[in-house]
Amino acid sequence: MRLTHIALDRYRNIRSAQLEFHPRFNLIVGENGQGKTNLLSSIYWLSTLTPLRSGRLKNLITWGERETSVKGRSEVSSLYHEIEVKTNGERTFPFREGHPRKNREYFGALSVVSFTPNDLDLVRGQPEVRRKFLDRAIFNEQSAHLEAVLRYQKALSRRNTFLKERKSEQLIRAYEATLAEVGARLIMARASYVHSLSSVYSNILHGIGNFSGTLSYKLGVPVVDPLSSTPQVIQQQLMSYWSQHRESDIQRGFTQRGPHNDDLSLRLLDRSARDFASQGQQRAIVLALKIAQIESLSERLQSRPILLLDDVSSELDRGRATQLFDFLRRFDGQVFLTTTHEDYVPVINDRKLWRIVAGQVSEVSARI
Ligand SMILES: Nc1ncnc2c1ncn2[C@@H]1O[C@H](COP(=O)(O)OP(=O)(O)OP(=O)(O)O)[C@@H](O)[C@H]1O
Ligand SMILES: [Mg+2]
Repeated sequence: MRLTHIALDRYRNIRSAQLEFHPRFNLIVGENGQGKTNLLSSIYWLSTLTPLRSGRLKNLITWGERETSVKGRSEVSSLYHEIEVKTNGERTFPFREGHPRKNREYFGALSVVSFTPNDLDLVRGQPEVRRKFLDRAIFNEQSAHLEAVLRYQKALSRRNTFLKERKSEQLIRAYEATLAEVGARLIMARASYVHSLSSVYSNILHGIGNFSGTLSYKLGVPVVDPLSSTPQVIQQQLMSYWSQHRESDIQRGFTQRGPHNDDLSLRLLDRSARDFASQGQQRAIVLALKIAQIESLSERLQSRPILLLDDVSSELDRGRATQLFDFLRRFDGQVFLTTTHEDYVPVINDRKLWRIVAGQVSEVSARI
């Protein structure tokens, strides 16, 4: 899979750009604040329909303008796709082959895995960061997962409103059924994804960091092991859990526990990485997590996702940067990297070099 062209129209500080990318490495160089992350984030948005940096859609539009669009041409197993996303700041409008599409009809033409300095929050941050990572990674492989996540959130917020307003038990219970049905799907998908990732993750971590660490799924509510159970059983268990805790949920005015408290447990030997990993170990953990995600996704897609690496060299110490670039050279897909200094990135062959100054992108040199 690769992105052959992109056209940006009034996207953040990039007023206009039409670029033809290299199938392997695209190195985007510029001083601070020139638009490197913006360019990368336009590719992310085109792929996921979600802004890379959380924030409002309105922020994607060049200041003073009313709309923005990003259009791309991708190639997947020798088939070409035209994809485009627009926004007026209120809504997102996806198009494929020139026609408006529903979100779920849109995905598939461009899969990306991003690696940005903020990803260190995967280790340091709250469970929500890890849950989001997990759900996005699953969604990359099964687009129906997004719908399940959204349905769960909607049912949860309804139940919470009813709890707060102390509505009748009957009404509250009605939402538990939906929550349990969708919640069981989330749990099954998360458990099996983490399970499939965990041994690859430990191996990679050992290779990169030369230390032992594990990855496991931590359930927000006590249910039987999802790997040896069925969605029906999990659903029943969730129902009875919420039924037992209904009284106390009413007291507190919200659903205290559920799959919305799930977490990804990252451990270093037998200790929590969040509390005990050094800076360098945290970076190695994030890198291993992402590489495991890439391996899994490649297998699933039968082709390589596109990698977006923002400002990576500054976030990695020398030893680990070498490991990363060894991986990238072996990885035979398309890679976009940003950096403030070309020398930070040891990619000399098979690349296009782009320079960005005040939102103006130009190609510096082309090498074979
Ligand atoms: N909607 C917008 N309209 C116009 N300019 C914007 C908009 N959103 C962000 N910017 C500006 O774009 C500029 C470039 O941002 P960007 O984060 O891409 O820089 P960068 O090259 O990645 O810098 P760094 O090396 O510091 O990470 C910033 O000065 C920012 O204020
Ligand atoms: Mg940046």
